[in-house]
Amino acid sequence: MAAEIIDGRALGAALRARVADEAARLAAAGVVPGLAVVLVGEEPASRVYVASKRRATLEAGMASFEHRLPAGTDAADLLSLIARLNADPAVHGILVQLPLPAHLDAAAVIHAIDPAKDVDGFHISNAGRLATGQMALVPCTPLGCLMLLRHRLGSLAGAEAVVVGRSNIVGKPMAQLLLREDATVTIAHSRSRDLPAVCRRAEILVAAVGRAELIRGDWIRPGATVIDVGINRVAGADGTARLVGDVHFASAAEVAGAITPVPGGVGPMTIACLLANTLTAAARAHGLPEPEGLTG
Ligand code: GUN
Repeated sequence: MAAEIIDGRALGAALRARVADEAARLAAAGVVPGLAVVLVGEEPASRVYVASKRRATLEAGMASFEHRLPAGTDAADLLSLIARLNADPAVHGILVQLPLPAHLDAAAVIHAIDPAKDVDGFHISNAGRLATGQMALVPCTPLGCLMLLRHRLGSLAGAEAVVVGRSNIVGKPMAQLLLREDATVTIAHSRSRDLPAVCRRAEILVAAVGRAELIRGDWIRPGATVIDVGINRVAGADGTARLVGDVHFASAAEVAGAITPVPGGVGPMTIACLLANTLTAAARAHGLPEPEGLTG
């Protein structure tokens, strides 16, 4: 195996420690950063994510407010909870765990969140600010990917970057962040013609398509930095479930210069960036100096 493994667990832990230091500084100034997480329904994966967000929030010395609502909650009740959280001065960040039950309109719910508290960076105002180069809250997963890329590469200026996937949560904001770093950016997706050839152009390849092990070693430019956002559950040889990324790790690691593993790559950075965004939102809300280097 040629590639360096990019250790998201170690880098995520370092970022969380930095956030905890800064949170202590804010607390000493009378501001305890607070994150409210709203979970509607009982989706098992979402419950696990929400529990780990709560644990990480408390470990960073921040306040955690958890709101669990039944799966049948109607839109009016959910929107009235969001209105209360918008108005609550102890809450600096609001995250509504997705996916929501099918009867709820996720876009309408996200747009009800005060953009200054939108620590997911999903509100149209934050998306528009990012796209137009203004101060924003940036979605956590692409922000974490950017930090991993900066750690490995330093400057990204002029680099050929290919993002595979065009979701509002990862692909599009990832492309905007790479553009902000002066990379040359291509967004490819499941309908792109000759996807392997497009990927082979990439010095930076970010895979966020949600297709298990789609991207093979022979799609990768030798020496490329590969960031694998995918988390796919597949049956292993012995029948037990195992997690794999959107990249076929073993073959890609033969060719890439550096690659993130799944698990232990992007995932730990995402949660650390959620805490960083909450800290940033709290500092901004109180007109305190914003810790540097946490907003991408
Ligand atoms: N569900 C899976 N990932 C995310 C995320 O980043 N934010 C929210 N709100 N829900 C999710």
